[in-house]
Amino acid sequence: MATTFPEGFFWGGATAANQFEGAWNVDGRGASVDDHFTGGTVDRPREITRAIDPDRLYPNHDGIDFYHRYEEDIALLAEMGFSMLRLSISWSRIYPNGDDAEPNEAGLAFYDRVFDCCQAHGIEPMVTISHYEMPYHLVEKYNGWASRELIGLFERFCHAIFERYQDKVQWWLTFNEINAGALGMGSMLSTSLIQGFEGPASALTTTLQERYQALHHQLVASARVVRYAHEHYPCFKMGDMNIFALSYAATCDPADELANQAMMRRVNWYCSDVQVRGAYPSYARRLWERSGVDLSIEPGDLDDLGAGTVDFYTCSYYMSNVIAAHELEQTKGNMGLGGVNPYLEQTEWGWQIDPVGLRVALNQIYDRYQIPLFVVENGMGAHDEVVDGRVHDDYRISYLKKHVRAMAEAVDDGVDLRGYTWWGPIDLVSASTGEMRKRYGFVYVDKHDDGSGTNERLRKDSFYAYQKIIESNGAEG
Ligand code: BG6
Repeated sequence: MATTFPEGFFWGGATAANQFEGAWNVDGRGASVDDHFTGGTVDRPREITRAIDPDRLYPNHDGIDFYHRYEEDIALLAEMGFSMLRLSISWSRIYPNGDDAEPNEAGLAFYDRVFDCCQAHGIEPMVTISHYEMPYHLVEKYNGWASRELIGLFERFCHAIFERYQDKVQWWLTFNEINAGALGMGSMLSTSLIQGFEGPASALTTTLQERYQALHHQLVASARVVRYAHEHYPCFKMGDMNIFALSYAATCDPADELANQAMMRRVNWYCSDVQVRGAYPSYARRLWERSGVDLSIEPGDLDDLGAGTVDFYTCSYYMSNVIAAHELEQTKGNMGLGGVNPYLEQTEWGWQIDPVGLRVALNQIYDRYQIPLFVVENGMGAHDEVVDGRVHDDYRISYLKKHVRAMAEAVDDGVDLRGYTWWGPIDLVSASTGEMRKRYGFVYVDKHDDGSGTNERLRKDSFYAYQKIIESNGAEG
């Protein structure tokens, strides 16, 4: 296949501090929300404990020890040909409690080393400022994003890292999968509404009122820092980040189509309409009314939203869903947003594999916004076997190639796609289950669900497949 990807297209991978770095209490870092989550499985939810129980395993504490192995890891990514690495900054490494008077110098210095290393390898960093975490202290004191106080604290965090890394980072995303904040389980990760809660994550209940209010605070915070960045650092490129949970109407029954339209608006368009266009969409008022949400919007908030629109749009894309006006058999994947699609295969974790859906999604997004797009997460969680020091992960290679082809088609359709960062290019801790056995990487990490392992890295077959794709700018897909 001749390549259709533009010259300078960014090929790379994406990670998140809490799932990757480990070193949770090293060099002055404070505990983050995820440090209070135990491990789980697809059928057994992670549990949240307020105090750290020395007899339980908290997988994020060690992650895969990128903190101490970043040089080796970045060299491996460079060997694959990466031109971009999306990573997040751990808020509690910089402000251990979130409301400290001064930032933690040792934390700031760590990311200096990481960005310098990226630069030495010709890899452009794309930084997610908040990826599913915050200092745990902010949960106990403010109930996370339920409080408006978080806006100012987040701004302060952003100002500190913008100032520090202004010569090293140009690409910034404010919140990972910000739209997860409106969803049940998603809100636990993205808005941290878990003050005082202990027990299985599935038992956590939050109201729509709480979630939409928390989301409003995040949207205002995001817009304010985007505007600040544009005013102070004109070379910065500021983006949003959404989970794009494409859904199809189950049948051509107009009632199914209407249900799907409502789902697409609520899940996929609500936040990006605000972040790209600068205002709540026309359908928001009715959505709030039907959800019993009475949003508290302070004077100046709407102006802030209007003044802080993003320069480019990004999303994660893993799977698609099916929506009907009636009951459907539900999938297990991506926060259980929809029903089973008989035309698609599922991963072991119940995520429906749909490369054509990626093409559909990119076209829908670009038709709506007409600004540059990035796919900043895509991938397949799978159980890998190491046999004689090799991992033959044909299933991952097949998933990768099909999604690269779908992106190529979207580019040919006219979509202004600028880059692709595969989720978890080096195995890392799963966000939803806390497992290590749910692996995404092109690089295998010898680390297991019981906490055992040497942390040694091993190139899987997919490592070489992605290398070829990158080398040929997508033609080898
Ligand atoms: C995305 C998140 O939703 O999906 C990542 O941004 C997460 O943090 C990824 O790891 C894959 O999900 P999981 O649950 O398989 O780790």
